[in-house]
Amino acid sequence: MPSATPSTSSARPRILSGMQPTSDSLHLGNYLGALVNWVELQNEFDAYYFVADLHALTVPTDPAVLRRRTRITAAQFIAGGVDPEQSAVFTQSHLHEHAALGWVMSCLTAFGEASRMTQFKDKTAKGQNANVGLFTYPMLMAADILMYDAAYVPVGEDQRQHLEITRDLAIRFNQRFGETLVVPEPYILKQGAKIMDLTDPTAKMSGSTSPEKGLILLSDEPNRIVKKIKSAVTDTDSEVRYDPESKPGVSNLLVIHSVLSGTAIADLEKSFEGQGYGALKSEVAEVVVTAVQPFQKRMAELLDDPAELDRILAAGAERAHEIASRTVGRVYDALGLLPATARFGR
Ligand code: TYM
Repeated sequence: MPSATPSTSSARPRILSGMQPTSDSLHLGNYLGALVNWVELQNEFDAYYFVADLHALTVPTDPAVLRRRTRITAAQFIAGGVDPEQSAVFTQSHLHEHAALGWVMSCLTAFGEASRMTQFKDKTAKGQNANVGLFTYPMLMAADILMYDAAYVPVGEDQRQHLEITRDLAIRFNQRFGETLVVPEPYILKQGAKIMDLTDPTAKMSGSTSPEKGLILLSDEPNRIVKKIKSAVTDTDSEVRYDPESKPGVSNLLVIHSVLSGTAIADLEKSFEGQGYGALKSEVAEVVVTAVQPFQKRMAELLDDPAELDRILAAGAERAHEIASRTVGRVYDALGLLPATARFGR
């Protein structure tokens, strides 16, 4: 029988996060808003990091492309510093439990509540021909999180609303069916949680909506990175000062520098005093290139050995499955679904 209480008995609290394999490379926003934090937190927490390949099906997908991007995304987690010996690295579709719990979450969500989710509203407002999967996307994400009794979920700012509905669903489930699910907390960095598009610093850097020049891919050639940063939109003033309201472009560059170099923004402002934006851009480009070069080397090694990568994903899925199967058992039991033993007569 499944245990009746959430499995938070391991010594360290659990964290979980995921990324969609919707591009041939993660971008600097994914890296600074989430991945650097994943790496940092894996020492302190029992960490589960996955490729959200089922979520990627909410947009039209070519099978060969999805396969390639799923491996690339996993390789980039590891190239960015996730240690698969320490953290479970896996693919969402390897565990059928995600879709099963996603269904339960959909049945717990009011239609109006789902209709208010901004991601769905934004995408359909832009004329995207949405499928029902895009509508129920947040419920699958809630399932991903609640599955692992995650105490914290390290993500960028754009995922905040999804975490709020996840919390609401966990609380609702517990109220209706008894204490079953852990209510998670978002873990959103103060700095780097919203990296902006280089060509339009009032919009977030996004793999699906930013133009090529607004986006730094972690796989970009160094000279391409330098070019993109040098042509980043700033403002007509020349003072290097952090002021996201009136200087969003300069502030974005300062944040990128600060998170990657570990230098406080106030110290950067001082060091660029009396110098123009050209100096700031040159140094930011250098800092980014220095960070991505070892990353790219490691990524190439990992992608050169897909069998090893698949082995890592299988081992991660096995670890994840131990928890996932217990959670679904506990949830089904709380709901009043008969145990599967009754069906198979064992
Ligand atoms: P995704 O794949 O869009 O993004 C992956 C992570 O990158 C962060 N991020 C950013 N951070 C700062 N600045 C930006 N410009 C920027 N763009 C993206 C995102 O906040 C995210 O942390 N729905 C999720 C995937 C998911 C998930 C989950 C996450 C599915 N299930 C369970 C956490 C827990 C998504 O589409 O992220």
